[in-house]
Amino acid sequence: MPALPEPTRQPFSGHLQRWAGQPLALLQEGAALGPLFGLHLGLPAVVGHSPAWNRRLLTDLDTFRSAGSFSVVVPYLAGGIILTDQGHAERRHALNPPFSKRSLELLRARVRGALRAEPLPTTLDALAWADRAVLRMLNAAYFSGDFDPELLHRFLAPLRHPFPVPALPRPLLFARFGRELQRLAQMRLLHGGDDLLHHLARWPGGVQETRVSLAAGHDTTTHTLAWCVWHLAQQPQWAQPETLRAVIRETLRLYPPGWMGSRRLSRDLEYSGHRLPRGALALYSPYLSGRDPALWAHADTFWPERWLEEGFTPPAWSYLPFGGGERVCLGMHLAQLMLEEALLWLLEDGRTPRALHGDPTPRPGVTLGPAGPLVVERVFS
Ligand code: HEM
Repeated sequence: MPALPEPTRQPFSGHLQRWAGQPLALLQEGAALGPLFGLHLGLPAVVGHSPAWNRRLLTDLDTFRSAGSFSVVVPYLAGGIILTDQGHAERRHALNPPFSKRSLELLRARVRGALRAEPLPTTLDALAWADRAVLRMLNAAYFSGDFDPELLHRFLAPLRHPFPVPALPRPLLFARFGRELQRLAQMRLLHGGDDLLHHLARWPGGVQETRVSLAAGHDTTTHTLAWCVWHLAQQPQWAQPETLRAVIRETLRLYPPGWMGSRRLSRDLEYSGHRLPRGALALYSPYLSGRDPALWAHADTFWPERWLEEGFTPPAWSYLPFGGGERVCLGMHLAQLMLEEALLWLLEDGRTPRALHGDPTPRPGVTLGPAGPLVVERVFS
């Protein structure tokens, strides 16, 4: 069987060095070789970006396992539903209800109120602003605002840094954060409540799911929000309540925070004329799939109009900012609610953002984010 094509590799380190330094360029070079290509990342890895590969990886959970994926490297994400293979469907079944669109509507007013707890400056760095706004919204949705904001910030801040910072063990911080979580969970069990912790605390492992999902939800939403603001500041014609959803969708197409998802092969697999070995890393890339010129018109352009065209649906298994299949993002509706509320607030007083200066270069870390800062001024149009 033919070997997989692969980008140029270094004699000893394979592709590891480029993966650590410039992973997007490496992915793009690989994608130019074909729909499936190989990488040497310490382990053999296979990367695909075709709709058929995405579909297979995201729906064949027996073959494409999460245990042993990249998430194990980051203590924040190494646990709970993210690494569950056995019994994943049942666990999701238990976790899904409080994260449904309908349940979250009941929290919208609280999220809205939490946003407004800080004044909205006229000039702001969209990245720093988004960071604080998302923390307040998560605190409101999960804890009714009861979590010590400083501790929440300290706990989540390392995730935003480049590797290896997010991968370093932080036993003291995790223990302190865990104690506060346990205390609040205990209060919910004793006195009831209606926030997300109230629902999660009732399940075995619910406290860990709270921690893991907060970590999965913070940077992802922060980066999306910052990029939305930056795009609105470049193209203020889109800064209207009716077009914000299209702006969010288009931002997620070009800059999916989950730029790459990983699994491990639980068995040898023959796929598309290649033999993929058991134990290999298997990667899909919402970044590559969302920019494939064979599937998307104006693939590399920020073009929100596509989402407003009558009857438009994204190409199947190629628009994956929230992943897909059974492991689709647990917080998808929560993220959408937070993004909408924050952007509506930004435009509420009739001002729209205008870019002053900034560096929007995409920086892939645990999630894809802009290098920043992204300084904008809000002006009356
Ligand atoms: C714009 C914001 C967000 C984006 C782009 C995003 C993206 C993703 C993606 C791509 C996956 C699938 C990863 C894979 O297939 O390996 C995922 C899974 C997940 N996300 Fe999100 N996410 C966002 C916000 C959130 C929020 C707010 C939460 C809070 C609940 C959350 C919790 C999770 C969890 C727990 C999983 C794992 C689900 C499972 O394995 O069953 N995410 N997310």
